This record gives sequence, structure tokens and C-alpha cells, in this order.
Amino acid sequence: MIPIVVTIIFFLILSSFAVLYWKQKPNQQTSSVQLLEDQNFRVSYAELVKATNGFSSTKLIGLGRYGSVYKGIMDDGNTTVAIKVFNLLHRSASRSFIAECEALRNIRHRNLIKILTSCSSIDFQGNDFKALVFEFMPNGSLETWLHPKPVEDLHVNSLSLRKRLDIAVDIADALDYLHHNCQPPIVHCDLKPGNVLLDNDMCAHVGDFGLARFLNEGTGGHIQSSSTTVGIKGTIGYVAPEYGAGCHVSTSGDVYSYGILLLEMFTGKSPVDDMFQDGLSLCKFVEMAFPDGVMDIANPVLMLPEPSNIANSQRNGSDAAWKIQECMLNLVKVGLSCANQSWRERMSMRDAATMMHRIRDAYN
Ligand SMILES: *[C@@H]1O[C@H](CO)[C@@H](O)[C@H](O)[C@H]1NC(C)=O
Ligand SMILES: *[C@@H]1O[C@H](CO)[C@@H](O)[C@H](O)[C@H]1NC(C)=O
Ligand SMILES: *[C@@H]1O[C@H](CO)[C@@H](O)[C@H](O)[C@H]1NC(C)=O
Ligand SMILES: *[C@@H]1O[C@H](CO)[C@@H](O)[C@H](O)[C@H]1NC(C)=O
Repeated sequence: MIPIVVTIIFFLILSSFAVLYWKQKPNQQTSSVQLLEDQNFRVSYAELVKATNGFSSTKLIGLGRYGSVYKGIMDDGNTTVAIKVFNLLHRSASRSFIAECEALRNIRHRNLIKILTSCSSIDFQGNDFKALVFEFMPNGSLETWLHPKPVEDLHVNSLSLRKRLDIAVDIADALDYLHHNCQPPIVHCDLKPGNVLLDNDMCAHVGDFGLARFLNEGTGGHIQSSSTTVGIKGTIGYVAPEYGAGCHVSTSGDVYSYGILLLEMFTGKSPVDDMFQDGLSLCKFVEMAFPDGVMDIANPVLMLPEPSNIANSQRNGSDAAWKIQECMLNLVKVGLSCANQSWRERMSMRDAATMMHRIRDAYN
């Protein structure tokens, strides 16, 4: 009798340890501290103050969900950086800082924004201070390129079809990497033009991993939101419909956002345009025009002659128009398929990336 009781007690203790250990594991605080210690170069609060003229409003280049982004020049005099300062008064800012540290910790891809260092410190008043330092993207966000102010000259400021194709392929490659080359897979959860940044060569880099999630193994690539502590807050217009229903975080949610982004880039219409109400959405609008009316909804800037495009100058007018139409048809096909209302019907980011490469190659 006694040995049985002892055995039972032993197992009870063992299993409670297992539960404790299991509960500890998802706590990401420790690994973000690790990240800070791993870094080859650390930066102090004082250095960041100096780099931004005391976080001067003239250095402010963006306002995000959980803080502000400043342009800064580091001490060496010729390293320009973007400094994202988290507003820790915001309830979720700390979590967002940790999510971003975690996501960017081990990943490297030419189409992802590169994190240079982080700063977790206290400011001169003794308040907690958290910031991330990124490489600076001189050409700003895709948002400002897609929807330039009306006063700006259409020809000077618009991206050509070829440039748009390059950017769309860059973004697809970045997501493909996050979903299929990272272990565990990373879901960005907030893909939109404002989070796609353009470097000096107009190469696109996906940024803002403040809402990013790791996908657990063994959940079939999906996390029930009940297993995560925070609800999904993507961006209206880009967030997958199933997230609104409190459903899954999954790679297919990113695929949806990518589909919307594609449709936006090539029609020139934002998904939150005033025209989209009373049941009309960007998807419906494109679907109704597909396939025969696809050129009627194409962004007019796509018809502008490509700058310095040898292939195009050799082609005659009708040939070029035909090429554009074929390209547009294929783009819309991918866009609509990615943005299907049902996540089960969406293609994977790997397939989307493959198709985007094909479409670009065919146009070139
Ligand atoms: C600026 O960068 C270049 C190349 O990275 C380096 O050789 C030069 O010394 C730097 N200048 C200053 C003032 O740090
Ligand atoms: C931005 O993009 C243009 C091409 O559209 C390029 O000429 C320029 O060098 C880029 N960089 C900046 C800082 O404007
Ligand atoms: C333009 O291209 C089409 C198809 O390639 C061809 O039939 C037509 O003759 C060409 N026109 C001129 C003016 O070169
Ligand atoms: C979504 O996929 C289903 C099945 O392939 C298809 O019937 C439907 O038309 C698609 N919806 C859109 C908006 O493409």
C-alpha cells in the first residue's frame, strides 16, 4: 500500500514540474534579455538622445501603433539609422518590443528590415526606455509611393509597372522566407504598404514586426487565439477576415494581406478608399472586372512608358499594351487567389512567390 502511495505522490510532483516547465517556456522575457546581451554593439539612451537631437520633432519620420520612429545619425558621423522608440505608457508596447526583438533575433533576408541594435534602459527621468535601431530606408514607405499627394507630379513620383513588379516580388520573397524558411515559421500579422520600406535602390524591405507571431509546431500551422494572450489587431483593409472572427493566426492570414497589397499596387485603389462601402470591397471591385475588364481597373500609371527600358522601346505600341494586359491579368489572378475570403482556398506564400517571379520574368 505505502509504495503505491509514494509512487502516486512521486508522479504528482513530477507532473506538476512538467506543467510548471511547460508554462514557463512561452515566457519570452528571458530570451529578449538574451538578445540584448548577444548584440555585438550596444547603444545607450544618451547616445540615442545625441543621435536625434534629443528626439527632436524635426527628426520624427513616423508614428506607429506603439511609438515613434526617428531618424538619427550615430556618433561615427556617417551611419544614418531609424530609431523606433516604444511608448511604454501604451499597455501593449512592451509586448510589441519583445515580439519584434524575438522575431528579428535570428532572421536575415535581403527583403526584411535589418535590426542593428536595441536599447533597454531608463531615460534621464528614471522612466523605462525601450528602443530598436534599424538601418535607415531613404526612400520611405511604399504607402507614400502608392498614394502620392495630388500636388506631386504623376510622372516623377509614380512607380512604373516594372518597379512595382520588383517590389511585389521582393515582398513575396520576404514572406516566403518567414513562412517557409524560418523554424518555427513567423507570421507577420500586419503586412500593409506602410510597413514596406524602400532603400536607396528601391529594393523593398518588410518591417514592423511588432505584431509578429511564431507558429507553434503541432498546431497544424495554426494557433487558436485562445492560446495567445492578445487579440489580433492587424490593420483594417488588410487584416484577414477570419482574424476578425477571433479565429486563427496563420500564414494564410499574411497571404490574404499580400493579396490585398497586390490588388492595391496594380489598381492604385486603397482597400480603405471611400468608394469601398455598402458591401463593395477592393476584392469585389476587381472580381467584377475580371477578366475582360481588367484593363479598365488597372492603375493608369502602368501605361506610362517605362523609363530607360530597351525591351519596351523595341516593341511597338500595340505589342507593349498587350504585354501590360497579360501581366495585369496574371497579377490580378494571383491577387484574387491570395485574398480569397476562405483561408483554406488561399495559395501558400511559396506558390505566390514562384508565380510572382514568373510574371515578372515574362514581362521583362
Ligand atoms: C564613414 O564611413 C567610411 C566607410 O564606412 C569610413 O571609412 C569613414 O572613416 C567614416 N567616417 C567617419 C567620420 O566616421
Ligand atoms: C529613391 O528612389 C529614386 C528612384 O525612384 C532614386 O533615384 C533615389 O536615389 C532613391 N533614393 C532617394 C534618397 O531618393
Ligand atoms: C506592331 O507589332 C505587331 C505585332 O507584333 C505587328 O503586327 C505590327 O505590324 C507592328 N507594327 C509596326 C508599326 O511595327
Ligand atoms: C475562393 O475560392 C473558391 C474555391 O476555389 C472560389 O470558388 C471562389 O470564387 C474564390 N473567391 C474569390 C474571391 O476568388
